[in-house]
Amino acid sequence: PYDKLILCTGGRARRLAVPGADQVPLHTLRTIEDAQALAPALRPGRSVVVVGGGWIGLEVAATARQQGAEVVVVETQSRLCERSVPAEVSAYLLALHRAQGVRVLLGAGVRGFARVADGADGADLRSEVLLADGSALACDTIVLGVGLVPNDELAREAGLACEGGVLVDAQCRTSDPHILAAGDVAVAPNPWAGRSLRLESWQNAQEQGMAAARSALGQAVDYQPLPWFWSDQYGMNLQIYGMPTPAHRVVQRGDPASGSFVLFYLAGDVVQAAVGANAARDLRFARRLIEQRKPVDAERLADLNTPMAKL
Ligand code: NAI
Repeated sequence: PYDKLILCTGGRARRLAVPGADQVPLHTLRTIEDAQALAPALRPGRSVVVVGGGWIGLEVAATARQQGAEVVVVETQSRLCERSVPAEVSAYLLALHRAQGVRVLLGAGVRGFARVADGADGADLRSEVLLADGSALACDTIVLGVGLVPNDELAREAGLACEGGVLVDAQCRTSDPHILAAGDVAVAPNPWAGRSLRLESWQNAQEQGMAAARSALGQAVDYQPLPWFWSDQYGMNLQIYGMPTPAHRVVQRGDPASGSFVLFYLAGDVVQAAVGANAARDLRFARRLIEQRKPVDAERLADLNTPMAKL
């Protein structure tokens, strides 16, 4: 029996249902055990194919390169992290990884996997990633980073409304007001995105969990967070505030070639979102601009001589 029930069942790494997927060792990365299993494979002279050029793919690629491994990233879309960043940020990430010696294949589908004998005596076994164009990538290790599947089976069996996750409102309530949900499994309305979505981020896992607890205790809750996400790759720290879209006007502050820059995404004169690399301080001010919805002068925004605090 319960008065309130909170579902925080999270998500799991998506697998690929292609021929040979059960013939080769396939790593995914979601738990500490997954990380411990993968770590020994990332070392000098070893070759790693990462399937998926999203966040797992790029962070694994960066770590593997830093450990001295050879890395190929295979991405089915025409650009990296297509789900979560605009094209100019994808281009920046592509240049970053190629400069670090990662081979990135875009628009490349995986049709299967194979286990092949290597060496004259055939004693060594290697894995192969079979691509849609008929080519094959031989390697020591394969990592799948092809997205997250929400663990909403329990909610669906219980008859709760689900659409790619458990639907909740700004009070974290599901279609049954006595049952709440939070974290990777929850699909919540987000005014910054103008739609309902799952926010697959550390920030949301933590803050929506707390909001659901307060809501279950009967406190007033209106959970509509400004999305915040970050990723560390090589020495680079990337942060995203808000939901940048192609409809926004882009204003650039700083130069990617200098290693530090922020892209602001504006609707009219109001900053709606920001993406920056190695610019944590400017991004804290950007967050304030977004939340205050204060009109800004785009020329001053782009001018590194104008401190963000003065905008
Ligand atoms: P993702 O959604 O970020 O990226 C998956 C990528 O795989 C996409 O680019 C997609 O086009 C590609 N893909 C899908 N099927 C494919 C196929 N058959 N062949 C080649 N590419 C294919 O998901 P990812 O990277 O697996 O991450 C899982 C979850 O973990 C996400 O929620 C992500 O946001 C989160 N995460 C967060 C990080 C952070 O906070 N810094 C770091 C890593 C992951």
